[in-house]
Amino acid sequence: MTEKNPLGSLIADTIEAHERSAVTTISRVEPDGSAAVAAIPTTYGSSDRPPRGDYSSARADYVCDQNWPGYTPEQHDRYRRLYADRIAHLPGLACDEFLDALDAMHAADAIPDLAKISVSLKKATGWTLAPVPGLIPEDAFFALLAARRFPITVWLREEDEFNYIVEPDVFHDFFGHVPLLFNPIFADHMAAFGKGGQKAALLDGLKYLARIYWYTIEFGLIDTPKGLRIYGAGIVSSGSEPEHALHAREATRVAFDLERIMRSEYKIDTFQSTYFVIDSFKQLFEATSPDFAPIYRRLQELPSHPAGVVLPGEKIFVANLR
Ligand SMILES: [Fe+2]
Repeated sequence: MTEKNPLGSLIADTIEAHERSAVTTISRVEPDGSAAVAAIPTTYGSSDRPPRGDYSSARADYVCDQNWPGYTPEQHDRYRRLYADRIAHLPGLACDEFLDALDAMHAADAIPDLAKISVSLKKATGWTLAPVPGLIPEDAFFALLAARRFPITVWLREEDEFNYIVEPDVFHDFFGHVPLLFNPIFADHMAAFGKGGQKAALLDGLKYLARIYWYTIEFGLIDTPKGLRIYGAGIVSSGSEPEHALHAREATRVAFDLERIMRSEYKIDTFQSTYFVIDSFKQLFEATSPDFAPIYRRLQELPSHPAGVVLPGEKIFVANLR
């Protein structure tokens, strides 16, 4: 299965099996019954299952309170086991920037207090963490990124979702995304991405931007002096994709090319068959800095590449195969 709705995919993460779906209409009814701010989640993927989470306490920007004291000892323990399970897969596979920042947060033992982490994150790169009830609409998502606020889902998965969950939870959002927000270049890239998203919505370009998000922020690889490494949040927070992403023979690792990615469909229900490799976060930041308006116009005239194809002349990385 390839992408159903890249806008929903942009926000809702594939966690384990990459079953990723659309959420394009979220609306909300206020406690007094008014519908001043659009209301209740109405669509979630092919199952029409609404997103999880308590939207009743969310404010107009979809930010809510974390209520950290409300987590149970069982939830903290589950988070601790998730952390221990995932980190065990990452030495030698995830990039140093990710591992070093994750280690420095000392967030292994309990669900993190987002306000406390925000203090050190703000000092490092000017970002803070914004608790949200779950999936949020793309305009709210981009507005938060543009304001250097990263949305973090507040609820934690259930025990039977330990290895597989459809929607992003606090573990995925925190473990997967927050470490690299401590990297100044990546942090700037994310803020610029938010601003780009606000523009793309007006230019019929969200499909292309969603593919960049997918193939970089969620499933990106980076070439380092030590070899290929993972930086994508969707991979690092998965128990089994790190090894596949770097070493599986059936996957292809292609050198980053902005327009190639913008034309590339992706899979939402299996491991990726194609990963794109940046040579530095600076390359990613610089490649995504130009005005995309003329690119969107040009690409709208061109066909998309199916997920998994290799195009003639592409630089393929083969050194990591086992
Ligand atoms: Fe994610």
